[in-house]
Amino acid sequence: MSKLSDRKARKDRFHRRAAQTGYKARSAFKLEELDRKLALIPKGARVLDLGCAPGSWLQYASQRVGPGGSLVGLDRNPVSLSLPGLRLVVGDVRDIDPDALLGDLTAFDVVLSDMAPDTIGVRHADQARSEALFERALDIAGRVLAPGGNFAAKLFQGPETQTLLSRCRTEFSRVKVVVPEGSKRSSLEQYIVARGFRAQETRS
Ligand SMILES: C[S@@+](CC[C@H](N)C(=O)[O-])C[C@H]1O[C@@H](n2cnc3c(N)ncnc32)[C@H](O)[C@@H]1O
Repeated sequence: MSKLSDRKARKDRFHRRAAQTGYKARSAFKLEELDRKLALIPKGARVLDLGCAPGSWLQYASQRVGPGGSLVGLDRNPVSLSLPGLRLVVGDVRDIDPDALLGDLTAFDVVLSDMAPDTIGVRHADQARSEALFERALDIAGRVLAPGGNFAAKLFQGPETQTLLSRCRTEFSRVKVVVPEGSKRSSLEQYIVARGFRAQETRS
């Protein structure tokens, strides 16, 4: 099979699975893979999902956290989704106040970001935008994560990858780079999964 038809077959397979399972997007399988490999989302967890539209990561996370969990999803586009314990916030991650994401919660146990920039096809510019979104997600995680909490975010491979990874290694006890099966082989897309947040101040 040629590289192109192999990629198309994989894409079709994920679309079919998404339709069968009722997920709003095939991205759910990327989160499922990260979670299966690295036990990212514990039962009962409070989860923040940055860049959550159309909502398939929230759908997956909802099954994982179960009835005792809480979910907050942020996107600049409105999301039409109803799940137990879910609060949706419409806004731009660059302007949002982390306290507004917390609402009544004291902290999150997991912060996720599948945010992607509007790509313009110029590699270094797309990388720089992805790095800025990743860095903002990491800043927010630093403000809202409970001690020992987990962080997973998309980052296009680029010149700042090593610097951002070093920062994650300082702030978390275990850090891994994962390229899920569902990410296109040709794309720069990878996910940084950082577990065991070393909080400077104790949050409950
Ligand atoms: C790949 S989609 C996320 C898919 C989602 N994980 C799912 O499974 O349904 C990326 C999302 O990031 C959002 N996004 C990108 N930049 C953003 C920003 N600055 N503030 C808030 N959301 C942003 C986009 O609106 C888009 O909905």
